[in-house]
Amino acid sequence: MTDNTALWLSSKRAAFTVGAAPFPTAQSGEIVIRTRAIAVNPMDRLVQTSGDLMTPYLHYPAIVGSDVAGDVVAVGADVTRFRVGDRVVGFAGSTDKTRNRAAEGAFQTYVVLLEHMTAAIPDALAFEDASALPLGISTAACALFQRNFLALNAPAKGARAIGRIVLVWGGSTSVGVNAVQLAVAAGYEVIATASPRNFDLLKRLGATAVFDYRSPTVVADIGAALRGKTVAGAVAIGAGSVQPCIDILGPCKGNRFIAMATPPASFDAVPAGRGHWRKLIAAMAGTVAGNIALALSARRKKVTLKMIWGSTLISNEVGPMTFETFLPEALADGRYVAAPAVEIAGHGLAAIPAALERQRRGVSATKLVVTL
Ligand SMILES: NC(=O)c1ccc[n+]([C@@H]2O[C@H](COP(=O)([O-])OP(=O)(O)OC[C@H]3O[C@@H](n4cnc5c(N)ncnc54)[C@H](OP(=O)(O)O)[C@@H]3O)[C@@H](O)[C@H]2O)c1
Repeated sequence: MTDNTALWLSSKRAAFTVGAAPFPTAQSGEIVIRTRAIAVNPMDRLVQTSGDLMTPYLHYPAIVGSDVAGDVVAVGADVTRFRVGDRVVGFAGSTDKTRNRAAEGAFQTYVVLLEHMTAAIPDALAFEDASALPLGISTAACALFQRNFLALNAPAKGARAIGRIVLVWGGSTSVGVNAVQLAVAAGYEVIATASPRNFDLLKRLGATAVFDYRSPTVVADIGAALRGKTVAGAVAIGAGSVQPCIDILGPCKGNRFIAMATPPASFDAVPAGRGHWRKLIAAMAGTVAGNIALALSARRKKVTLKMIWGSTLISNEVGPMTFETFLPEALADGRYVAAPAVEIAGHGLAAIPAALERQRRGVSATKLVVTL
């Protein structure tokens, strides 16, 4: 029997610890991969520090992490898209309510992935670069394509131009770079925001115009760019992103719908240990107050708001549309690139907690990746 090792979260708010893990088997519709690269996300540390609120259903001991790339080592009996030895990237679903199973956490050497949430990657794409994709593309796809969100046309080769505009506020985030590319691949025009140092990146990914979200005139400037055009909706990513999107979409023609990725109050300062409840309650109170203020503003301007949960595509048609139908071919023919750029934050599972802490301190158009 081959050994497996994981970065465990033994109970709510425990410290992450490396230890032995059962070697997983591939059930129906599943594969097992040998992990080569893992990318870290804000959600991974929020499960540790604020799991009481974010993932109260989670079974412990848990293995978290969603972004993983590696080689297929086993396939379930009915799996048709993969063979042992294939190079893949996948969304590991352990913290989704419908999966809730340590074997599906990315932070381990052998991970169970769902066939329909996994894509083959071209030989030219390094595991490290590929691992930047899963939660970013999943969250963006949830926002853009789910029927109860923006409900855009699916991305496709040679998609015809729709003549409508998607606003991606926070375009240089991991979610944003994927939202820009997916919307463009589906035939929509994209206007995005970012710091000026990331304007060129977003234009290379297909945005037609990029605005500095810190500019005091950004709302008026984007409003002017949208005059006379029809919007298909907005994706609001990053602290303080929702109110300006409401202000911009309010006077627009079209689908005045905002898919929200970021809550109105930050949970970044909530510690797992001492001071946990005080900071968690303050963040919850800030979220409730912020949501009420945003809801009132949206109602006044006849704009619809809805919070995304980046793993809901596991259970609807958007998961297979993204990972089976679109991504493998789009990566292979270069229509889609793995973004943002990765920075290797260490090697081995023990390097992940420090990578999560670096992530918390902030990155710019960069995905922190740990190799295995
Ligand atoms: N709801 C969900 O299911 C879900 C899933 C995934 C992520 N998220 C949330 O989405 C957000 C982005 O996550 P991520 O992993 O994509 O982030 P990330 O890649 O770590 O974000 C880094 C980027 O954030 C940008 N940024 C910083 N402050 C900003 C602001 N106030 N407005 C707009 N952009 C800002 C920076 O842009 P510049 O350097 O260009 O300034 C930087 O490039 C986080 O709040 C995260 O919690 C939610």
